[in-house]
Amino acid sequence: MNVSVIGCGYVGLVAAVCLAKLGHRITLVDVDEQKIEMLNNCQAPIHEPDVEEALSQSDLEVTSDYDCISNSDLILLCVSTPTTDDGFISLEYITQASEQLAQVLKKKLDYCVVVVKSTVVPGTTTDVVIPILEKSGKKAGIDFGVCMVPEFLAEGKAIYDFMNPMRIVIGEYDTRSGDMASQLYQSLGAPILRTNPITAEMIKYASNTFLATKISFINEIGNICKLLGIDTYEVARGMGADDRIGSKFLNAGLGFGGSCLPKDIKALISRVKQMGYEPRILEEVWNLNEHQGANLVALLKKHILLKGSTVGLLGLAFKPETDDIRESRAIRLVKVLLKEGATIRAYDPAAVENFKCLFPQIEYVSSQKVLASDAIIIVTEWEEFSHLDYRGKIVIDGRRVPKAMEAKVYEGLCW
Ligand code: UGA
Repeated sequence: MNVSVIGCGYVGLVAAVCLAKLGHRITLVDVDEQKIEMLNNCQAPIHEPDVEEALSQSDLEVTSDYDCISNSDLILLCVSTPTTDDGFISLEYITQASEQLAQVLKKKLDYCVVVVKSTVVPGTTTDVVIPILEKSGKKAGIDFGVCMVPEFLAEGKAIYDFMNPMRIVIGEYDTRSGDMASQLYQSLGAPILRTNPITAEMIKYASNTFLATKISFINEIGNICKLLGIDTYEVARGMGADDRIGSKFLNAGLGFGGSCLPKDIKALISRVKQMGYEPRILEEVWNLNEHQGANLVALLKKHILLKGSTVGLLGLAFKPETDDIRESRAIRLVKVLLKEGATIRAYDPAAVENFKCLFPQIEYVSSQKVLASDAIIIVTEWEEFSHLDYRGKIVIDGRRVPKAMEAKVYEGLCW
């Protein structure tokens, strides 16, 4: 099929290279000329394993010109939906891209399906996207189709997740568009759940907020275990053996960051509060996550006086295998430590350049130099941190790196 992808962030770029692998002809559209140039040179504008290799193997057309997508069978809308100051999502890019697509639809003679893949709060596809598309003078469900197909890939293993989905959710406005979207994913062999657009939008939010809830839940159990002298990771192992609970997302520690879980939980809270509902669980999931950093600093203070000390941070990215620092737990920690008068040395295998933009005043050094600090905090569980020599050090571990237990003083945040 001829597939166009609007937006070359994580979701768009990964969808583009993977759908190309599956044999579709792909046109990738973005407004950012710098990104277009990079992509045309087979350079990925995101740090993600295997994307550059996939780019060099695929024959994508990359452009800023919407006229190039006029022969599409499916158009995937993958623009970002960033958080606004009051916690809502901004629909600025969704609106802009939909306006452009309306112009394309106006001239288009044959049927095509617009697939919303950006994470949007329930109701957005039918209440915002479709009315803009219909400014073309064409009717949704008749002249063109619309689906909402949420993306469930995680950063760091995006290509793997796209090619090996646990399920495909298709929120179809009309049956014909649902049939076409199903065809796009059929060869992946995953179960396909067909529903309506608002339900598909909610499935995405419910999934991400449930993952966040699972993390905050185990962190709460972890905080209790710490008080009782119990190893939370053993508790999680015992819990996870029950397949109603499952063993994944039970790693207690500093909590969740990134561009998705925090944004989605905030957006859902803001949206439902606007409707007069108090989402108590979601609020507490958020509060608990925000508090884990303070718990870690309290542990650190048991061992050193922060004022005048040098604290070393291992890890700045929100999780391993990415340079993404959005909502990284390191940000909050650095703010607190600086306020308390500590000097900070930090190391991360990929995220230093991004972190420097936020905190130019801290020292960026090798992992060996971080180890020479008065105390060390493990913020991100990069694999290479399992090969460092922690003997004789003071280590406060926010992510459970077993090798660090050899330290002279070792404190696990939740164990
Ligand atoms: C998340 C979801 O996992 C994806 O399914 C979803 O598609 C994506 O958001 C999205 O909405 O685009 P991602 O943010 O890339 O993916 O990362 P996760 O692997 O979910 O990790 C999120 C955060 O939770 C990280 O900071 C990680 O360190 C933390 N985490 C994860 C824990 O603290 N404990 C755990 O047990 C697992």
